Amino acid sequence: DPLDFSGVWRFRDLFPFAPPDRIMTIGEGQTLLQKADQVGKHVGMKPGNLFLQYEGMNPSGSFKDNGMTAAFTHAQMVGARRAACASTGNTSASLAIYCAATNLMRAVIFIGSGKISYGKLSQALDYGALTVQIAGDFDDALRRVQEVSKQLGIYLVNSINPFRLEGQKSVMYRILEAMRWEVPDWIVVPGGNLGNVSAFGKAFFELKELGLIDRMPRLALINAAGADTFYQLYEKNGVRWNGGKPDSGKINAYMKYLDDADRRADTLASAIEINRPVNLPKALRSMERCGGYVREVTDQEILDAKAKIGAGGFGCEPASAASVAGLLKLVKEGVISPDERVACVLTGHVLKDSDATVAYHTADPATFEAKLGKRGVRRASYANR
Ligand code: F0G
Repeated sequence: DPLDFSGVWRFRDLFPFAPPDRIMTIGEGQTLLQKADQVGKHVGMKPGNLFLQYEGMNPSGSFKDNGMTAAFTHAQMVGARRAACASTGNTSASLAIYCAATNLMRAVIFIGSGKISYGKLSQALDYGALTVQIAGDFDDALRRVQEVSKQLGIYLVNSINPFRLEGQKSVMYRILEAMRWEVPDWIVVPGGNLGNVSAFGKAFFELKELGLIDRMPRLALINAAGADTFYQLYEKNGVRWNGGKPDSGKINAYMKYLDDADRRADTLASAIEINRPVNLPKALRSMERCGGYVREVTDQEILDAKAKIGAGGFGCEPASAASVAGLLKLVKEGVISPDERVACVLTGHVLKDSDATVAYHTADPATFEAKLGKRGVRRASYANR
């Protein structure tokens, strides 16, 4: 069955919403869990205990394809002619490639001004998407695209779309498969709009209900310090999923504070430069089910971790490296033990934001200053090269 060549749809029994002949696949999800002892040593794990799931190896170069194949399939089932998203660059690259490959829909993409890496922008342009730059950042773009798609009847593929999250569950199935269905102690993942963490918690919860796994893993969600709404709410203000519903009073008050103070997200990990995550309530539910932790990491910690991931023979974009930077922190704190088994999700390909990588490693002050210096980031130390 051709669907069994998709790393997403071979698990379709666990999200059975589409008749097999309506499924739109481009071979997404062919990714592997790999042992990463060099990176493990850097973060203080025992050999054999750290695994990396490199989702950059998807057709559009990020984990988004896992969810996009599902949302796109649904869009096409309901007869959509146009599909839209706001994006920091990866969702848009993913939507654009599905539209191009199938020629079934037109992609409409909203990008915050100056907030996207050229690698990602170049994908949307080359795949032929209608790409609109709006004044503002991702949070503004997401608001705008929700209004516009409602007004004009355009299918929305941001992770507010539940079918996206169904497809993203498959990342966890592949990790479990590689571990022979022994549940790891920890899953560590960067957080932006909080779609992944919502999907991952749901995946494990359902598997446990079905009796296919015997326990839940712990989830660690890592925010960039300049885009840390979830960290502030969960760790600093004790906001929880309480008795079947989220603590919405506290969430709304925090959102109002962000709006009143016009507090914008600001991190060089542009993929996760988001202050108003749409999946916040679902993410709280995942954290409750898994006994989750949230940490924040600085841009410096992100880039230092990224260089270690590269030097360990993997590589990823800055946002993805937040997972390993957060793991380092949790091991230092003693929350995660070197004896536990940990899987970090590397969400995007190393070539997605090569400007940031070159600036970090370069000896040329002008290149460095233009990209990283004004954010107060130091260049790679010799130990990192
Ligand atoms: N890592 C990468 C590489 C991403 O592109 C994103 C999100 C995330 C992590 C965060 O994932 O939203 O599930 O918490 N990128 C979106 C985009 C916002 O538009 O491409 P999340």
